[in-house]
Amino acid sequence: MKNLILLGPPGAGKGTVAKRLAAEHGYLHLSTGDILREEVARGTELGKKAKAYMDAGELVPDELILAMVKERVAEKDGVLFDGFPRTLAQARGLEEFATVDMVVFLELDRDTVVRRLSARRVCPKCGALYNLLTQPPKEDERCDRCGAELIQRDDDKPEIISRRFQVYMRDSAPLVDYYREKGILVRVDAARPPEEVYSAVVSAIRDDRP
Ligand code: AP5
Repeated sequence: MKNLILLGPPGAGKGTVAKRLAAEHGYLHLSTGDILREEVARGTELGKKAKAYMDAGELVPDELILAMVKERVAEKDGVLFDGFPRTLAQARGLEEFATVDMVVFLELDRDTVVRRLSARRVCPKCGALYNLLTQPPKEDERCDRCGAELIQRDDDKPEIISRRFQVYMRDSAPLVDYYREKGILVRVDAARPPEEVYSAVVSAIRDDRP
């Protein structure tokens, strides 16, 4: 199986697409954001180092991220990278221990990012994702799957969302050209409804024609 990267600004829908691709197509979903949040929740050394960066909407240093990813993917295939790489240094570091077959770039404008992230809610128990505007839970702010009370991520506050978008433009947007020049980038308009975005991603993977 191929290794894929989901690239795109915060809130583009990387996690939404990745969870479904993993469930329906058997990819190993590797979200650096999810791993870091788990480390923070468990109070590990890595979590303690990462927390201040995450709360401020800044990137966690490349060397910590690369070590964390390498440990989890070495000699595996069918990996779906979500939220990684985020800098050119991470992209080059990844090439030392894994191949990248395709990069799907979920394109979304800043205003839609802010609107979506302000309305995002997550289940702290099972990880299910909701959006009060576009994918609301059936019962008021409770998880449809497990009934837990939904929460808002600490970094989904307006000023932190803006900072995350700035950091994305500065550090991560250059990856679009990096992978385009390698001939492995495919663009997907992520402003469409979730079902359409997912179908477009699946078609791109099937066609394998970046
Ligand atoms: P991370 O968790 O990776 O956050 P992110 O990249 O900012 O992405 P998000 O999780 O916010 O958005 P998403 O694209 O997954 O969208 P989602 O599917 O949830 O990183 C958090 C922090 O960790 C970083 O700021 C950094 O500090 C650190 N970090 C992580 N990785 C790092 C790395 N590699 N290097 C350094 N630091 C790192 O969808 C968003 C909302 O929209 C949801 O409510 C969803 O229901 C809704 N939605 C999804 N798709 C659609 C659609 N098509 N239409 C309408 N609504 C939709």
